[in-house]
Amino acid sequence: MTRDIRKLILDKLAKDGTVKAADISGATGLSRAYVHRFFQQLKEEGMIVLVGKANTAHYVLPRARRAIEGKPVNIHRLLRNRDLRENVVLESIKDEGPWFARLAENVGLIVDYSFTEMVNNAIEHSGTDTIDISLRESKDRLQFEISDRGVGIFNNIMAKKGLDTTLDAIQDLLKGKQTTAPEFHSGEGIFFTSKMVDHFSIRSSGKWLVIDNEKNDVYVKDSPLKTRGTKVSCSIRFDSTRTLSEVFGRYTDPDSVEFTRTAVSVRLYRNNVQYVSRSQARRIVVGLERFKTIELDFQGIDTVGQAFADEIFRVWQVRHPESRIVPRNMNENVEFMVRRAGWVDDLLTTMDMG
Ligand SMILES: Nc1ncnc2c1ncn2[C@@H]1O[C@H](COP(=O)(O)OP(=O)(O)OP(=O)(O)O)[C@@H](O)[C@H]1O
Ligand SMILES: [Mg+2]
Repeated sequence: MTRDIRKLILDKLAKDGTVKAADISGATGLSRAYVHRFFQQLKEEGMIVLVGKANTAHYVLPRARRAIEGKPVNIHRLLRNRDLRENVVLESIKDEGPWFARLAENVGLIVDYSFTEMVNNAIEHSGTDTIDISLRESKDRLQFEISDRGVGIFNNIMAKKGLDTTLDAIQDLLKGKQTTAPEFHSGEGIFFTSKMVDHFSIRSSGKWLVIDNEKNDVYVKDSPLKTRGTKVSCSIRFDSTRTLSEVFGRYTDPDSVEFTRTAVSVRLYRNNVQYVSRSQARRIVVGLERFKTIELDFQGIDTVGQAFADEIFRVWQVRHPESRIVPRNMNENVEFMVRRAGWVDDLLTTMDMG
């Protein structure tokens, strides 16, 4: 038996160049956990190597991995800002090559969060016609840049907050949790992104704001870049040990999440918090795909925004069909928004069909 399973794995690899635990458990009817032991063994013997993580995890021959690792990625996209969705943009860039699969899990999650937040800002705040995206790898890090040709971030903040100078706008931004669009946003995207990447910078209105987490430094200088709009750059070291949960955890009440083995219950109530934005939603559901059932407790919450509900109950739910988000203690306003985002409770679905 042992021989057979090892052979099955290696044969599939020889034929297809890649194999997943699910392929073998599917072909043999054996449990994943059982099959996994054989993969583990082959891995320890150096016969196969694991690439990717979670859903995309698969095994390849060591030689194939070297081929994958050999080519640093260098992607450039010029997108028209019409009906764009940041997560769709990221998924299509992930499809360009194996660059994402070879990131460590914590680094991949940081890329997911920071990239989508910065693209979302260009889409929703800049008023730009086009968005320029580049992403490339260097020896020790992944770097991406999002440029738009819109109003300019510092100008936008000055205008909407009635501030006099670009430096006042930068000051306002650095405070964190400041937004010019409170109906749909919470002002957290830049705050968290700038804390989880290794190097973060924004160029706009002739100024260059840099947050350098490697040197633990924040500074503003004049930017040689004189074009209109905003250019955001992020770089993340491949060996970063930072995690999303640790960064969020520094600014979040630890009592609001309760884990059990298969279910997790998230209590949303915190004083004076309005749940409106996609970034708040992402922050809440990050990592929860490990659980089958996620109870989201809306006790004490008056209402939630459309973008917040949509991100959890549509976007996230569609991406993670094996997990189920179960809202609890919704008042009728919350329930209205949650249903609009596509949530239906199981009982109702069955009744509707019958
Ligand atoms: N590309 C951009 N062009 C113009 N203004 C921008 C741009 N990016 C951000 N801003 C301005 O900076 C503010 C802060 O952005 P940030 O991402 O931190 O928060 P937010 O987008 O308002 O809320 P959230 O990210 O939580 O949804 C925005 O409210 C907006 O006024
Ligand atoms: Mg934002």
